[in-house]
Amino acid sequence: MNGKYQILIVEDSEITLYKLKAILLRLGYEVSAHDRPQNALDWLNTSHKTPDLIISDVMMPGMDGYTFVKMIRSNAQTAKVPVIMLTSQTDLKDKVAGLEAGADDFISKTVSPDELELRVKALLTRNQEKSSISQSSSKVFTVFSLRGGVGTTSIAVNLAVAIAELLEIKTCLWDMALSGGQCALMLNLKPKNTLASLADWPEGSIEEGLLSSMILDHASGISLLPSPQFFEEGDLVTRATVDLVWTPLQMLAPYIVVDAGNHFTDPVISILERCDAIIVPIAPELASVNAAYQALRLFEEMGIDRRKVLPVVNETFQKSSLIPAKIAEGLKKEIFAEIPYDNVNMVRAINQGTPYMTLAPRTSTSQAFTKMAQRLTAVRKELEKEESPEKPIIKLTDNKFQRYF
Ligand SMILES: Nc1ncnc2c1ncn2[C@@H]1O[C@H](COP(=O)(O)OP(=O)(O)O)[C@@H](O)[C@H]1O
Ligand SMILES: [Mg+2]
Repeated sequence: MNGKYQILIVEDSEITLYKLKAILLRLGYEVSAHDRPQNALDWLNTSHKTPDLIISDVMMPGMDGYTFVKMIRSNAQTAKVPVIMLTSQTDLKDKVAGLEAGADDFISKTVSPDELELRVKALLTRNQEKSSISQSSSKVFTVFSLRGGVGTTSIAVNLAVAIAELLEIKTCLWDMALSGGQCALMLNLKPKNTLASLADWPEGSIEEGLLSSMILDHASGISLLPSPQFFEEGDLVTRATVDLVWTPLQMLAPYIVVDAGNHFTDPVISILERCDAIIVPIAPELASVNAAYQALRLFEEMGIDRRKVLPVVNETFQKSSLIPAKIAEGLKKEIFAEIPYDNVNMVRAINQGTPYMTLAPRTSTSQAFTKMAQRLTAVRKELEKEESPEKPIIKLTDNKFQRYF
């Protein structure tokens, strides 16, 4: 045991399981997730592990949650493990049945991440022998293209909104398109302080409070760290500025999406080096594919892990003969996601200062943003630690994602 708490979850709803798992992984717990009680029992038997906490649904196929908890209680290995039951309705009858079965606490399936964190911590701290919960750092996803007009900003804005919606977690959009960043405009926000004010800051660190004063909250659930307001202020943001804000920003938001714009500048390079994934938008035309090819080559020269570079085909125009498969062939790299064409709503979104995801939530384009968010937040490193022998249960994180991280 490496000092991390391990939490076992049993929940047959794919989306609830996905959400709980993502929240708990981000908080630094090890998670073993199962969609059937029998699978969880098999895992307990074969792994010989004793989780520090069990979270179980009530209504599940094969065996209900009460029976599952009774079995947990009757097994010496798990008899003392705290159990939280997930309820859809807070019916007293259900609670009584849960308590009789041996549950310690109840939470609603629609629990907020903050409440989940508190409840989980409360039960875990009854078990004092483990070290304190490890604090995981934020995930930083950077969107960068060497060519303008391919949807870098559109993807950054909407990916941030998609993550915030999917995980109900604060997501910060960091506008690093330094000369003429458009994120504030796209969100109809009016920055007061920007990173340009840190230009003469002495080396060292800045207070979270100062950084907070620059960050603007948006109704979609994201917050924005805006770029300098004026074109000529772009140069005031340097690698030193990135060094200053990197750590405090992670204290403020567990997920950060960077619009790194179209210029290969020193501060942008320092973000590309440190971030968890680089999304390279490609419009389906040859110049854009060439720009992506050049970007990939530069990343390789910089020693950036190729697996964290994720080309995304964004259909900024219709009916191109340059299909994603051909682009992948040209780049010698798989395409991570494809964003369908929707010019009308994209332009309306920009003109109204509303994110596309909010304006047109049900289109295939919005679904593509959500799918990207799902794949990016299913943290591969954490999944690897899970030694579950069964087939993966989270279908949402399907296919080739594993190869990238
Ligand atoms: N999937 C898409 N379908 C249609 N138009 C798009 C799409 N993505 C982006 N656009 C349009 O492309 C233009 C450039 O987008 P933008 O995000 O500003 O690119 P960049 O930041 O790379 O310069 C905008 O007019 C935007 O509406
Ligand atoms: Mg842009």
